[in-house]
Amino acid sequence: MSISDKTKKIIDEADRYGAHNYHPLPVVLCRGEGVWVWDVDGKKYLDCLSAYSAVNQGHCHPRIVKALVEQSSKFSLSSRAFHNDQMGSFLKAICEFSGFEKALPMNSGAEAVETAIKALRKWGYLKKGVAAEQAEIIVCSNNFHGRTVSIVSFSSEEGYREGFGPFTPGFKIISYNDLQAFEEAITKNTVAFLLEPIQGEAGILIPDKGYLKGVQQICKKNNVMLAVDEIQTGLGRTGRDFCFQHELSENPDVLILGKAISGGLYPVSVMLASEEILGVFKPGQHGSTFGGNPLGSRVAAEALAVIKDEKLSQRAAQLGEGFIAKLKTISSSHVEEVRGLGLMIAIEIKKSSGPARPFCEKLQALGVLAKETHGQSIRLAPPLVIKQEELDWLFEQIKSVL
Ligand SMILES: Cc1ncc(COP(=O)(O)O)c(C=O)c1O
Repeated sequence: MSISDKTKKIIDEADRYGAHNYHPLPVVLCRGEGVWVWDVDGKKYLDCLSAYSAVNQGHCHPRIVKALVEQSSKFSLSSRAFHNDQMGSFLKAICEFSGFEKALPMNSGAEAVETAIKALRKWGYLKKGVAAEQAEIIVCSNNFHGRTVSIVSFSSEEGYREGFGPFTPGFKIISYNDLQAFEEAITKNTVAFLLEPIQGEAGILIPDKGYLKGVQQICKKNNVMLAVDEIQTGLGRTGRDFCFQHELSENPDVLILGKAISGGLYPVSVMLASEEILGVFKPGQHGSTFGGNPLGSRVAAEALAVIKDEKLSQRAAQLGEGFIAKLKTISSSHVEEVRGLGLMIAIEIKKSSGPARPFCEKLQALGVLAKETHGQSIRLAPPLVIKQEELDWLFEQIKSVL
């Protein structure tokens, strides 16, 4: 695709001075509003990635921007050495919204996952009676929980691991969507099962109906904590407040949130659990300079209120169902499968048609920003504030490219 001199200059600068740890589409964005983003040449695009579901509320939501501006000019950071007047009310709001007893705020998603790993290991030693240094956490192949050394230690994706060892021990990888494999992997040292209710980065892989329910039953039977990573699936994306609610009538033991918890305006993440689990941390055993800061807390409280007030989970359910059904009507020799839940959708391109990236580049030319996932899938996850007319327009663009 031809790009302007202005765009080329900015991309060249980033390439020259930045590490090449991403392979972005050749577009330079400088403005966002709702579901739309604009590049530096003034071209408008419908954002179908939503910053990997971090902007479920839409870009620069006016209520969240207002909260950020007001709070940033009043008080931004105190560190946890002192109390601040915003953290408690945010934690109360997210606990009441999710039905968990306690929450521990961090910044990135990976940090919240690390927090869960630490809490679950300590719970294993203090409450379950696992022998020192023996705690095991079971995870799934094709998982994605972030990029820290401990987290890539249990990735099954060689590209995420190669050259980054030595790795953290204490994890066991089993296949996803396989209850028997889970049951067989449990030992007396198993403290937790950590999984995504839909594997997002793996290409929107949806397990069979009944899988999560079965997992919860096995966890209960074996005194193994169920830790659900909803950093990508949570907060409305799949048509429920949390994806696990499609199956479970009772909360898992641990819930990990990030991304949309702050509507894309500030990095906030949170680990939610019972007093029994989060109570294992004593002062000095875990923390973060920015975790729970007043600015992030105020922004996240507002971002959560927007999800509730604008009924974004219900929107995703209604709009997503119709959109997925319509996508399935497209007759194209390139399409292997359309799958999704709510507004978390993948169009898998047949191997014989080549990778998904050229399709994404064609969509870009038509004003749609969508990113390929794992080579063959076009991921569609627009902000949940998208309107029916906008989805109809998106459908026409996708149809013409396919
Ligand atoms: C399911 C899941 N867990 C964890 C993460 C890591 O979050 P972060 O990039 O904020 O560290 C992601 C990010 O894509 C994710 O999708």
